[in-house]
Amino acid sequence: EKGTYPHYMLKEIDEQPVVVRNIIQNYQAENGSLKIDEDILSAMKDADRIYIIAAGTSYHAGLVGKQFIERMAKIPVEVHISSEFGYNMPLLSEKPLFIFISQSGETADSRQVLVQVKELGHKALTITNVPGSTLSREADYTLLLHAGPEIAVASTKAYTAQLAVLAILAQVSGRSKGIETDLDLVKELGIVASAMEALCDSKEEFESIAREYLSVTRNAFFIGRGIDFYVGLEGSLKLKEISYIQAEGFAGGELKHGTIALIEEGTPIIALATQDFVNLSIRGNVKEVVARGANPCIISMEGLEMEGDRFVIPEVHHLLTPLISVVPLQLIAYYAALHRDCDVDKPRNLAKSVTVE
Ligand code: F6R
Repeated sequence: EKGTYPHYMLKEIDEQPVVVRNIIQNYQAENGSLKIDEDILSAMKDADRIYIIAAGTSYHAGLVGKQFIERMAKIPVEVHISSEFGYNMPLLSEKPLFIFISQSGETADSRQVLVQVKELGHKALTITNVPGSTLSREADYTLLLHAGPEIAVASTKAYTAQLAVLAILAQVSGRSKGIETDLDLVKELGIVASAMEALCDSKEEFESIAREYLSVTRNAFFIGRGIDFYVGLEGSLKLKEISYIQAEGFAGGELKHGTIALIEEGTPIIALATQDFVNLSIRGNVKEVVARGANPCIISMEGLEMEGDRFVIPEVHHLLTPLISVVPLQLIAYYAALHRDCDVDKPRNLAKSVTVE
């Protein structure tokens, strides 16, 4: 039940710190280290390439998951949209492992791919929030999100839970092959949970950002580089699905290859700057659009902030920034939808789980 909350979406955004702590607990062995079932670890070890299959928000989590797995487990990863994969199947590697990411575990587009790859004799792991869901039952292995029921149509806590579980899977898989990462994941996810709490306590700030940038605009752009780009894709999906503002996420460097033509006086640009090695280049991209009249809202991270940034998120490990940089974007989308009198929990034309192809 949503209790004192006006909407499930807001409640579910606020639950994120607790969900991250639950995930740590659920994936901890008695000695405190992170653990994943042996059969999943040996499937990861056997794989020469991982294919992540997902839709919507879960696809966006997969894009970040690819970075986690490639960096911490050193296995090449491809991320595919489930509705495209079926008839547009890439040339598969010799020993592929399929990872299906699905909050509901019922998405028909993803299930269709699962059926197809099982027929080809390949192994599949489902990462889902719903035990006993179709995708979980039909895959060889399951990892649960432990996020509690997600009711609002716009997915929030499932996304951050997917990222946390993917990070754990990546690190434990790497470790089982003798790859050590310079990242104390239990500690760093704890820092993430506290940072999420701080962000959830800054709601007025995000309400005023939404009012200032999004209450009258027709469109909005999200830009970032590297994993910030992927979070921007998720931020733009959140905004468009609940506020009906036409929103798009772009890689900072790609703007000048066409989209910059859309920038007009006052066009809101939400830019993420959480990565040291691209901090100056994303700020260069912001200058390019400001020169064409855009209204920039830079969200940066402690240690990388510069004068004029609109909001600075607390510092977390550089690989884990998507878990917290998404929170401002979720809250900004929420308040933008409220300011525009939209039905936040049940946006038009959308259903919580998409069981048709
Ligand atoms: C967006 C959203 C959708 C879902 C997508 C996949 O907020 O909720 O984009 O992420 O329909 O759903 P699952 O993860 O249940 O397969």
